[in-house]
Amino acid sequence: MNRAILLILTSTILFPIYGFAEAKPDQINAPFIQNQKLRRTINLGNALEAPSEGDWGLVLKSEYFSIIKKAGFTAVRVPIRWSSHAREDKPYSIDQSFLQRVSWVVDQSIENDLSVVLNMHHYIELCSSPLAHKERFISLWRQIASYFKDAPDSVLFELLNEPNGELKANLWNQLLDECTSVIRKSNPDRTLIIGPSNWNHISTDLDKLTLPDANVILTVHYYEPFHFTHQGAEWVDNSENWLGKEWTGTVDQVSRIESDFVAASEWAKKNGVPVFLGEFGAYSKADKQSRIKWTNSVRHHAEKYNFSWAYWEFGAGFGVYDREKNEWREPLLKALLPSHPSN
Ligand code: GLC
Repeated sequence: MNRAILLILTSTILFPIYGFAEAKPDQINAPFIQNQKLRRTINLGNALEAPSEGDWGLVLKSEYFSIIKKAGFTAVRVPIRWSSHAREDKPYSIDQSFLQRVSWVVDQSIENDLSVVLNMHHYIELCSSPLAHKERFISLWRQIASYFKDAPDSVLFELLNEPNGELKANLWNQLLDECTSVIRKSNPDRTLIIGPSNWNHISTDLDKLTLPDANVILTVHYYEPFHFTHQGAEWVDNSENWLGKEWTGTVDQVSRIESDFVAASEWAKKNGVPVFLGEFGAYSKADKQSRIKWTNSVRHHAEKYNFSWAYWEFGAGFGVYDREKNEWREPLLKALLPSHPSN
């Protein structure tokens, strides 16, 4: 089929009513193409989003990237606490050595043919005092975007992990608009990843989200039932009371996942965006068989609705990789990558 006709057809199918008038067909297709490359992603959690790398026991190593690639993953998502590595006052400069460290992560990903999502994680002060931190947030993105402007399109920017607290939907939508237009000055064609307020929850605030432009992927997180996935999690109040809660895959349990995913999928279709399930996982204090079943079921539903996904996370408390033994936790890995030849 003639490429022009194909583009018109796909843009009409993917982008029917809510189209951005100025979007070119290539910009409409770009996020769908980029999202394909995120189809089997792993979060490199607990490293660069700790106050300093290593504080939470994990330092990224070169070998992890080839281990991840070899297992069958297609991308890494890198949680990053930029706000701890930048001046508090104007011009809010990010430490050069930290930028170089992130750049090393990007290089490792590229060398191993993995797409890489650079996010902004744990900007806690922005969520508690959005107006006081807005200028700094935008300035951080201006610097990150400019530093990585020549990076290949396998590098994606995710504007903020889990906006919450005072950063409610209206304010978040405004911030997304302003920040996106700043990023677009240096990165006109880069695909951006954005998610709804209230912790990127799959349903609560999704209807309130407005998309800043056409070259974006929607991200949502899935930790339901929370009392199952976060039992015994030291950072969640009273979660020791939930220990012992199992997930066996009953009809009710599975249909909860199904209905949450259908709703997100419908919203995404209506708004012409692809979906990235940017985090899901069950903490290691949960029963092992339950974790495997839940992980398998969530991953399966993501694929059923054509969401790309990113397991939370590689080698810490939810870890699918055992860093002491230098080996994958095979049953959990198989729940994520059942059909990969090496598993
Ligand atoms: C969120 C938090 C991260 C936590 C994870 C699971 O991404 O930012 O620190 O480990 O969810 O609770």
